[in-house]
Amino acid sequence: MRQLRPLFFAPVLIALAACSPQPDPVDDGDPPFDPATRTDATLPPAAPGDGAAPASEEQAQVATAVLEPTEGNATRGELRFEAANGHVRITGQVTGLSPGGEHGFHVHEFGDCSAPDATSAGGHFNPDDSQHGRAGQGEHHVGDSDNLMANDEGVAEVDRELHGATIGDGGSTDIVGKGVIVHADADDYVSQPTGNAGDRLACGVIQAL
Ligand code: CU
Ligand code: ZN
Repeated sequence: MRQLRPLFFAPVLIALAACSPQPDPVDDGDPPFDPATRTDATLPPAAPGDGAAPASEEQAQVATAVLEPTEGNATRGELRFEAANGHVRITGQVTGLSPGGEHGFHVHEFGDCSAPDATSAGGHFNPDDSQHGRAGQGEHHVGDSDNLMANDEGVAEVDRELHGATIGDGGSTDIVGKGVIVHADADDYVSQPTGNAGDRLACGVIQAL
């Protein structure tokens, strides 16, 4: 049995090599590397390299959301959420915004976009019972993000951060299953409890990859 051990590692190495050079956010065709597939009763508990794979997987916690317009609006988009350095980075693109406009952008407490105006998504995701504010600056909701900035075509290239959020850990700050909302107006980062960001233009549900 001992001579067979390298064979069990070979598929793992191939899977890691195939995944690492492809950070393409649109490519969701490959199933994520599953640590269960390398579980083998013949492996000794202190096998070389044990622990390295689970650690790198923790650093690559990723989720996505597709934003659909609310009734009477045309805002839509695709977002990718990635946990890094204790924060969650949000990247992607949102279209159908007001040209040159500034739009409030938050994670909301419910992953429910069923209402025509998306009020079903509830208020800002706020597991710590904090005041509304600005991400990374003093007190704020876990779901608070900086505003999206649209160009002259009404398109926003998204690169934002959530401070205090996690992905897929099942804890109180986990954003998987929560809603994402793009608002008609700018968040002033001050008004309670929503930043006075106005109507909801688009809504999506955050889903783990
Ligand atoms: Cu909001
Ligand atoms: Zn807030």
